Amino acid sequence: MSGSIPSVEPGMLLRQEGGMTAIQRDYSLAGQETPRAIERGLANAQWYRPPIDPARLRELSVRTNGRAAFDTLLWLGLIVGFGALAWTLRSSWWAVPAFMAYGALYGGASDSRWHEMGHGSAFKSGRANDVIYYLASFMLLRGPTQWRWSHVRHHTDTLIVGRDPEISFPRPTSRFDIALFMLGWKSVVPLVRTMLRHAFVGLDENTQDYTPEGEQKAVVREARIYVGILGVAIAWSVATTSIWPVMFIGLPTLYGVWLVVFFGLTQHAGLTEDALDHRLNTRTVYMNPVFRFLYSNMNYHVEHHMFPTVPYYNLPALHAEVKQYLAPPLPNTLAAYREILTALDGQAKDLAFELPLRNLPTGPDHGGVGTVDVGVRLWGSPGVDLGAVESFVNGEIRRVDVEDATYAVYRLAGSEIVVTDGLCTHGAAHLADGTIVDRMIECPKHNGRFDLRTGEPARKPVKEALQVHAVEIRDGRIIIEPERARPRA
Ligand code: FES
Repeated sequence: MSGSIPSVEPGMLLRQEGGMTAIQRDYSLAGQETPRAIERGLANAQWYRPPIDPARLRELSVRTNGRAAFDTLLWLGLIVGFGALAWTLRSSWWAVPAFMAYGALYGGASDSRWHEMGHGSAFKSGRANDVIYYLASFMLLRGPTQWRWSHVRHHTDTLIVGRDPEISFPRPTSRFDIALFMLGWKSVVPLVRTMLRHAFVGLDENTQDYTPEGEQKAVVREARIYVGILGVAIAWSVATTSIWPVMFIGLPTLYGVWLVVFFGLTQHAGLTEDALDHRLNTRTVYMNPVFRFLYSNMNYHVEHHMFPTVPYYNLPALHAEVKQYLAPPLPNTLAAYREILTALDGQAKDLAFELPLRNLPTGPDHGGVGTVDVGVRLWGSPGVDLGAVESFVNGEIRRVDVEDATYAVYRLAGSEIVVTDGLCTHGAAHLADGTIVDRMIECPKHNGRFDLRTGEPARKPVKEALQVHAVEIRDGRIIIEPERARPRA
């Protein structure tokens, strides 16, 4: 049987004409679908990426503290404002809409903040990203360490059954299921169950699968901290025989989750599983400015998956750059819901139901962003020539291949040349497609970072150091000896 499994190319759709066998698939990460996905070449695979001018991508990947701070303060200010209003109106029915708004901001809009800060792409300041990430994680009752790793896997293996832990709407998902998600039964209740399990019993199989061993203690610790905070809120409510403490801390995750589901459905629900092309398994939907604020522009979801180094506020501009290579976006949220419900209703009756294939523009299938230069091995010496210094502009990163080896060559501000191995030590993405942030290179795949002075990991998920090579400039040419590491400062 395994002999008939096709090999997979980027952008290839695995669904056979006429549909797959209509059996319920196993969405866990430890079931029969997992080895099958690996065997089919679907795990850690190369994905379709459209071409884009590298200089423009660098421009779009720049983060500003000002913009992220404005949006974050507005969001937090609205939470405090509606919280105060709800408290003031607590003895009247007018408190209900005030609490609804408070919950939507606390337990709903926090989702996209959690997401952006988790990627580290919102603020320029890593610390600011982390602080808001931890706050939003608590608001959503997602363990920060567990979900950081879960999201790394989601980006690696998006909608690959048996590999992606964030397939929220497996087939079949009925309209009744969606109601249960919005009411929290299928969304918040499992989170609470997982939190309690992690705090008192240990990690479940799925979490163990994507969380490195060295990080698993942090998952337990964070679950216990959450239990402690929620315990205090509950004890406060019991001691004062008042519902209000838990209405402000804890319960908003439940009564605000409908907004997470409302936006979350638009991302991947009902689309093609096991396709190595975000244009087939992810939606971009045009949304109004209020939705875009609440959702941090994540409606440009295809673009985000293809270029996760681009901060949310630059996604509309990124969309303009690459839209000619993408499927036409859904014109509004209503149209997106029509498509989602058609797919989910169809799959509720027939698990193999697929929407009509999207009309994808034909264009270059581009695994990376920039061009690939070819270096030369020097005659009679161990040196390798990677090109002329003058051919680089400040801030540029270029991939240079020499025989079987691949390097990333950086010209930093001040014209300093740095050369590292070309592939990220975490998942083999080409670092030349990444972005430079404060003398660090940020990987284009999962936003991990390396210090360009030492090669040491500077941001998860990378854990293994990168080789930084000693560089010699000879007659204006960039020369390295592949075995010679840059001396440590
Ligand atoms: S491939 Fe994962 S951080 Fe580079």
